[in-house]
Parts: sequence; structure tokens; C-alpha cells
Amino acid sequence: MHIKVYKYLIYKIFLKGIACLKAVSEIEEVALSRHTIPKCIWKLQRWLQIGLEKKCKVDEENISRFLHRCITYIKVNEDVDESHSCFIKELMREGLGKGEKTEKYITDTALNLLLAGNGTISTGLTWFFWLVSTHPIVEAKIIQEIKDNYLAQQENSITNLSMEDFDKLVYLHGAICEALRLYPPVAYQHKCAVKSDVLPSGDHVRANTKLISSFYAMGRMEEIWGEDCLEFKPERWIADNGQIIHVPSYKFITFNAGPRSCIGKGISFVEMKMVAVSMLWKFHIQVVEGHSVTPRISVLLRMEHGLKVNISKRCI
Ligand code: HEM
Repeated sequence: MHIKVYKYLIYKIFLKGIACLKAVSEIEEVALSRHTIPKCIWKLQRWLQIGLEKKCKVDEENISRFLHRCITYIKVNEDVDESHSCFIKELMREGLGKGEKTEKYITDTALNLLLAGNGTISTGLTWFFWLVSTHPIVEAKIIQEIKDNYLAQQENSITNLSMEDFDKLVYLHGAICEALRLYPPVAYQHKCAVKSDVLPSGDHVRANTKLISSFYAMGRMEEIWGEDCLEFKPERWIADNGQIIHVPSYKFITFNAGPRSCIGKGISFVEMKMVAVSMLWKFHIQVVEGHSVTPRISVLLRMEHGLKVNISKRCI
């Protein structure tokens, strides 16, 4: 019975989910274009349903349909597997008994988290794996740290690690921070002044002025990170006593700072560590020779040609 249910899940939700992920990445393209096209133009395009704005409407409908299917599936099969959870299920549980938490609220919140948390993590991991595979000493230190902490005990398996286990991986934490510093998945920040103001620098900003700051540039500034700012050095994040150095978010700006900071920062580190440990412990990743690695001009700092790698089983 369960197998049938999961086959249905794979067919109906997972495969359709791929179309949804494509829609998410197309929406990123529209978001980027809205930074350069005057607002009145893209609003008109949206109203007339032409160009990229037409594509955006179709994408939005695809994503809404996908989320609606997920919500319906979870409602129908709520008792199928009590031990299994996902954020839509949790949102629905939280919504029970609270009148304002309607399906629209659940769909909107799920959409918000999907857009904010999907490409960011995968983009961050892509740059992380590229940096690790091109810095063999860092790779060796990460493997050594996993061994030293006895995380891979039984038959070289690396499953069922707890949060406490991940907290022990200080060097890995430093390597992830370093990848996110050099290649922040959200590479720039766009703000618009509601009323005229004066910045801490003394610069005057008029109402409605658009300000764009580059997180990518800030992660590489000598004034902020020192002479070795362009080097990939996980050690930068580790104090003499072996603990992680806390760096304020106004300096390590990858997750933004202030009231609009990323709410997914904590979970991002957990997810990235889970993937990094599982992959690196089992496999050696080598970038295909001659593969060109350059950032793409996009809302997220994806790789222009993806990351082509050869993967071999690691012998520990
Ligand atoms: C490496 C991974 C991630 C990076 C680098 C990142 C970065 C950011 C940045 C820079 C912002 C501010 C955007 C702006 O205001 O212009 C932001 C906001 C946000 N992030 Fe993340 N994020 C990551 C992962 C996640 C995940 C996994 C989730 C959810 C599960 C998430 C949820 C959000 C939400 C909901 C906001 C909007 C917060 C608000 O405006 O109040 N993020 N993120």
C-alpha cells in the first residue's frame, strides 16, 4: 500500500515538481529584468500579457498548481506516515484552529520559502564543491575532521548525524562561510528610499532613489577582509581556541543585515553541511578539465555553464 502511495507521489508530485523548479528559475530571470526595465514598462507588459511578463504569469500558475497539489496530497494522506514531515505539513498543522491561516496563507508562505530557499542553497553548494575540489588541502582537512570526530563509525556510513554532530565540524563550517563570502548566492541587494535620507557615509539620498549594493564586492574588499581577501581560507573563521569566530552580519553580508535579514540562515548551514558531509565522505569530486567556471548574470549567482565534474568513490 505504502509503495503504491509513494509511486503516486513520485509521479504526480516529484515529476511535476521539476516543471515547477523550471518555473522558479524562469521567475528569477523576470526578477532580474525588472531591475533594468522601467517599472511603467514592465507593468504595461504584465497588463498586456506580453514578453517575459507573460512567461512569468504562466510560471506563477505552474508553481501555484504544484503547491496546491502538494497541499491536497498531504491533506488526503495525512495519516500515511506520521514520522515523515515537511514544511507544508508543519504550516498546515500550525494553521489548524487559527482562522486566518487559510490555504492561501499556506500556499503564499510555501511559495515564499520555495523561492527564497531553493536556488540559494544549490548555488552556494555548487561554488562550495568547486572551491573544495580545487583546494585539495581543504578537502583533506574536511575529511580528517569527520574522522577525528568519529562521525563515520559503522562501516564507513555517515547517516543519522545529529545537530550536535554537525556543530563539531568547525573547519567545515569555516569552509562553507568562506564559499558564501566569496560567492554569495544573492550577489546584490536592491533598496529604494521611501523618503529622502542621509546615509551614514554622509551621502544624501532623495525619495524613490534606487540603491544597489554588491554583496559579491563586499565579500572581496581588502578594507573588510584584509590582504588575503581573495583567498579561500576556512582558517579565517576559526579562533586560536578552535572555536568559530562570530562575524557580525554587517561584515559577513551574505545573508543580509538588519530587519530584512534572511530567516533561513540557520537551516541553510544545516542543509549545506548535510550535503557536504554525505558527498565528500563517500566521493571525490574532480572538475572536468577545461570546464569554464564563470558566474552568470542573474538574480542568483549561478554558474554560467553549471559545474561539470567527474565523481569517483573515495577510498578512506
Ligand atoms: C545559502 C543560502 C541562503 C542565502 C545566501 C540567503 C540570502 C538571503 C538574503 C540576502 C536575503 C535578503 C533579501 C533581500 O531583502 O533583498 C534573504 C531573505 C530571505 N530568506 Fe534567505 N538565503 C538563503 C537560504 C534561505 C532558506 C533556506 C530559506 C528558507 C527556508 C530562506 C528564506 C528567506 C526569507 C523568507 C527571506 C525574506 C526575509 C524578509 O524579507 O523578511 N533563505 N535571504
